[in-house]
Amino acid sequence: MQSNYVKQLLSKMTLQEKIGQLQQIAGDFFGDDGSPITGPLSTYKVSKTQLYNIGSVLGVSGAENVLKIQREYLKNNRLHIPLIFMADIIHGYKTIFPIPLALGSTWDPELVKRVAQASAAEASASGIDVTFSPMVDLVHDPRWGRVMESTGEDPYLNSLFAKSFVDGYQGNLPVDEKHVAATVKHFAAYGAPEAGREYNTVDMSEWRFREQYLPAYQKAIESKALLVMTSFNILFGIPATGNKYLMRHILRRELGFNGVLISDWNAINEMISHGVASDSEEAAEKAIQAGTDIDMMSFAFLGSLEKLAMKNEEVKKLIDEAAARVLNLKDALGLFDDPYRGVDAAKERQIVLSQENLGLAKKAAEEATVLLKNQHQSLPLDSNKAIALIGSKANTGDLLGNWSWKGDPASTQTIKSALEDHFDNILFEAGYDMVSAENNLSLNEQAISSAKKQDVILYVAGLSASQSGEASSMTDISLPKEQLDLLRKLSKLHKPIITIVITGRPLDLTEVDRLSDAILLPWFPGTAGALAIADIVSGKTNPTGRLSMTFPKSVGQIPIYYNYYNTGRPLTGTLEDRNNIYLSKYIDSSNDPLYPFGFGLSYSNYTLKDLRLSKKEFTADESITASVTVKNNSKISGTATVQWYIHDLVGEVVRPVKELKHFQRVQLGAGAEETVTFTVSKQDLSYVHADFTRVSDAGSFKLLVGFSSQTELETSFLFKN
Ligand code: BGC
Repeated sequence: MQSNYVKQLLSKMTLQEKIGQLQQIAGDFFGDDGSPITGPLSTYKVSKTQLYNIGSVLGVSGAENVLKIQREYLKNNRLHIPLIFMADIIHGYKTIFPIPLALGSTWDPELVKRVAQASAAEASASGIDVTFSPMVDLVHDPRWGRVMESTGEDPYLNSLFAKSFVDGYQGNLPVDEKHVAATVKHFAAYGAPEAGREYNTVDMSEWRFREQYLPAYQKAIESKALLVMTSFNILFGIPATGNKYLMRHILRRELGFNGVLISDWNAINEMISHGVASDSEEAAEKAIQAGTDIDMMSFAFLGSLEKLAMKNEEVKKLIDEAAARVLNLKDALGLFDDPYRGVDAAKERQIVLSQENLGLAKKAAEEATVLLKNQHQSLPLDSNKAIALIGSKANTGDLLGNWSWKGDPASTQTIKSALEDHFDNILFEAGYDMVSAENNLSLNEQAISSAKKQDVILYVAGLSASQSGEASSMTDISLPKEQLDLLRKLSKLHKPIITIVITGRPLDLTEVDRLSDAILLPWFPGTAGALAIADIVSGKTNPTGRLSMTFPKSVGQIPIYYNYYNTGRPLTGTLEDRNNIYLSKYIDSSNDPLYPFGFGLSYSNYTLKDLRLSKKEFTADESITASVTVKNNSKISGTATVQWYIHDLVGEVVRPVKELKHFQRVQLGAGAEETVTFTVSKQDLSYVHADFTRVSDAGSFKLLVGFSSQTELETSFLFKN
């Protein structure tokens, strides 16, 4: 809805002023150079008049900085329309939370909402109005570096997190001073580039897009996200930024999105390289026709829209429409009432890196950490254990991960220093060099000699922040060679080895798994990550993290995910399968992943029993209640994650072998048990049909329950429509 104020404002604006609202530029045009540059910097020269008509700026932050730019801007803008400050606040502003893929491993949407709230509080106190988050792109391919920005491979889980992020960032509308507007990105299906190669072709059936990829975007839009960002990739043969069907039909008409659609960095002009526009003018026309409102950094709008509007009345109307949307966003942010949104430097100092936010960062890092292996209960470690702490990754603040431009690795506590608060007998050796291989042999030798003296080896391995994120696709997702070499040498000592893996993407950990007694995966855990790791290693915290993305046994298995469709020749796991080669399988590898979706161990030991259904069949206006009892058989209290999956046995189109539909995180004291329930209704059975309608069909269903997607108990029921 357009307010009267916005209507009046629009009626006073010249065409050039309206076009200005549709162009976004980087902060350095205003004299700030703190932001990350993720794409080509245009050589476009912005005149002073153009500069003070620009609608929004990206990558500027800091209360004083923002106040200065906004004041100067308002003095020079004829109608005193404030600028919007946008930035990538992806997993925190200065308090850095675990990367989104790690937040996915919490399976705790409520916690993620609090993380988004805290990020919004810090960012808004520092003058930011809009964050380019959440990224809700569903991912199947860990070769793609941006898997770190997603919450994983599951439509249901991603949808829950999409809502948490949007609710947490925005709070109630209109957006108040403690919140920021959210940008759902990247619309659409950016998470499926061929071969995991950055910016590569995305090509899938529209049916599959709607079934798996669309739900999380849809949920974010239902949660009232105020912006959507276009993706770099093509979908259905046309780059998203100029894809009328995708934007006008699916996004606007079907999903009812009436907020601001912003292009990704330079994505409008990139339509020229894609080969669907001959020049910037044609690209601008395609983008505005498709419904793109803001041009981020390609200057196609600023350079061409006026000319286009002169030639074509329709373009004029589209410019009016887009400008109205940008002004509505300013209205929803309260910028017309207070262009500074209450920003002041004293408040910023109080909120940024507050004790409360640091506490939340630690909690999030604890919940995000996944225990992947724990043979002979090698973890937790007794405080009197003599530990050989090995790995230069243990002695660095490079724990924040990519997309943490305001985070400071140099002042981030290291794993080594956090462990030293828990254990008295630690011998540390770097073991390998992350940057140069030159000293590796002597570093190896020192590490081995220390390891010989101690009871247990705590090996900290992993990648650096720049080895995941945008433009970091990889064909080899093993640990770096020098780290694997050292692990092999250490394993020859026959001492217990606990490996901690710092990473932004699922890795091929097959050999690490073979050589380690225990594996802990904190991902990139953020500002308070080291504290969380030390608490888990020492047993003060019991791990609860669960993978939201499958870990392959080898790169050759990729893409691998739990909710695949059966083929006509499925592998059933029976003995006869072994002798039958004409099945959907490999001749040199099993189909099974190394660690399945939903997997994660605990120091407690849980079991499930008594799976029951309230009845065996139900109709459209009824539901069935399933119950199962979860028991903690250990002396350690903990949190079990009970996961409910459904399999539709016969569909109009093929159905996944399992689909996550519900889960509970159940806190259980030593020896305690609890019965949990899942009420299945018609909606849980619906799916996208060949004509793209989402309906539930009558038929037989399996209900499966377990602690991962490799479920333990199952039963079945009938649905009668
Ligand atoms: C990325 C976006 C990001 C934008 C602004 C692009 O390169 O794809 O995700 O929001 O840069 O920094």
